[in-house]
Amino acid sequence: MIEKFKSTATFLKERIKNEPEIGIILGSGLGGLANKLEDAIAFEYKNIPNFPVSTVEGHSGKLVFGKLGGKNVVAMQGRFHFYEGYPMDVVTFPVRVMKFLGVKYLFVSNAAGGLNPDFKAGDMMIINDHINYFPTNPLIGKNYNELGPRFPDMSKTYNRELIAKAKEIAKQNNLKVQEGIYIGSSGPTLETPAEYRLFHKFGADATGMSTVPEVIVAHHMGIKCFGMSVITNGSEPADPNGETTHDEVQDVAGSVEPKMTLIFTELIKSL
Ligand code: HPA
Repeated sequence: MIEKFKSTATFLKERIKNEPEIGIILGSGLGGLANKLEDAIAFEYKNIPNFPVSTVEGHSGKLVFGKLGGKNVVAMQGRFHFYEGYPMDVVTFPVRVMKFLGVKYLFVSNAAGGLNPDFKAGDMMIINDHINYFPTNPLIGKNYNELGPRFPDMSKTYNRELIAKAKEIAKQNNLKVQEGIYIGSSGPTLETPAEYRLFHKFGADATGMSTVPEVIVAHHMGIKCFGMSVITNGSEPADPNGETTHDEVQDVAGSVEPKMTLIFTELIKSL
């Protein structure tokens, strides 16, 4: 596997001007940031050796290199989900490649259902912790000791300094941000009312089908992580009658995207 990570990284390095310091993964309806990169060089996933190809509507499937806030970044416009049928090593492959490209920071975004009764659709939530409710863990199997430890500590998975800076940036720009715990599960079904209530009882504030695998793998390799959810729908117990469609998720995410992009951009500038 390591040879695969390296060979994909080498393919990309030979085709870009500057190696990225920051990796960004953009969630459903949140891909707009990638269009803001200066001096952009984009690769469709299907043209990158060893890369899987994304199948979800609203995920355009491009890896875009360029400058944002004066820093060299690489952004994934569209990610790979476990529910698409990819095994975890495939879901997290791009993050492994990012490490070999020299990435030190990972910024992730996602669309999520709100569990905390104080949250409304359209809110942004800074992720300060997560619950891995996927039926597996991306680090199961052989450990790459040269990349990270067998039993990684997870007490500070979401970088505290980045969280503090993001809150400061939100305040300066008069943007309301929530903060809380993200629970990731496989999907593709949205939660039943009973499942939403269970996740809320677990202590989670938002629920979605991504992020946790990529963050585990990044954190394992010593990459500093920052994550943000856009709450696209209220759910039990906040909104007992809520029904959720993928169109609604995309629409709400799209309308919040400029605010989230502002926070990501300013945060990246400050690094
Ligand atoms: N549940 C799971 N994933 C989601 C949701 C939800 O309510 N909304 C957006 N992604």
